[in-house]
Amino acid sequence: MELTDAIKGRRSVRAFADTPVSEADLAAIVEAATWAPSPLHLQPWSFVIIKSPQAKAEVLQSCQQAKQGVLEAGGPEWVKKYGFDFLEQAPVLVAVFYDAKKGGLGPYFNQPHGALQAASAAVQNLMLAAWERGLGSLWLTFFDPALAAKALGAPEGLGLAGIMPLGRPAVESKAPPRKQAKVFIDRYGEPPAG
Ligand SMILES: Cc1cc2nc3c(=O)[nH]c(=O)nc-3n(C[C@H](O)[C@H](O)[C@H](O)COP(=O)(O)O)c2cc1C
Repeated sequence: MELTDAIKGRRSVRAFADTPVSEADLAAIVEAATWAPSPLHLQPWSFVIIKSPQAKAEVLQSCQQAKQGVLEAGGPEWVKKYGFDFLEQAPVLVAVFYDAKKGGLGPYFNQPHGALQAASAAVQNLMLAAWERGLGSLWLTFFDPALAAKALGAPEGLGLAGIMPLGRPAVESKAPPRKQAKVFIDRYGEPPAG
């Protein structure tokens, strides 16, 4: 698959078939994640592969708690209808953690999020590598990361960049259209000539 096709073809998938994900695919997808750039090449990420119904139930609980919080705080109405069935449908979920202390020199010059930035690049790699293998994914963040990390047994101090369900898409999703890129030349606000 051409890279541009993978970039444009990848969709956020929220309904999965129960076809298993092979160990070989899973290993290749996680390995692709580790080829992301990271500050000082510190590679701050770690992964939990979630397969058991019990571990999935822990994730689901964190998500439901977050949803409840949104509704109690008067958040948007559509959230009521947002369900998490995909957590049970997907044969596997991959949680991507990061060690915030491994963010490079950034904290010296007001850039404290280097490790999260690197973990986010790893997530994108993971999703593209999954897509290349015919697997859909979703970058899920609808939980309190500290609570979800604890529920998954992560050591204190690790951040959670996302939990990605992976599996064969059950339906084809249409690409949500993109806004035209806001591009300036030399200085913010200066439009390109022509
Ligand atoms: C950091 C991040 C967090 C996201 N969190 C969620 C989420 O919790 N639940 C969800 O359904 N989609 C989530 N998304 C997916 C976006 O809704 C989705 O990428 C966007 O609508 C564009 O659709 P596409 O990925 O199919 O191009 C998240 C995306 C990003 C980058």
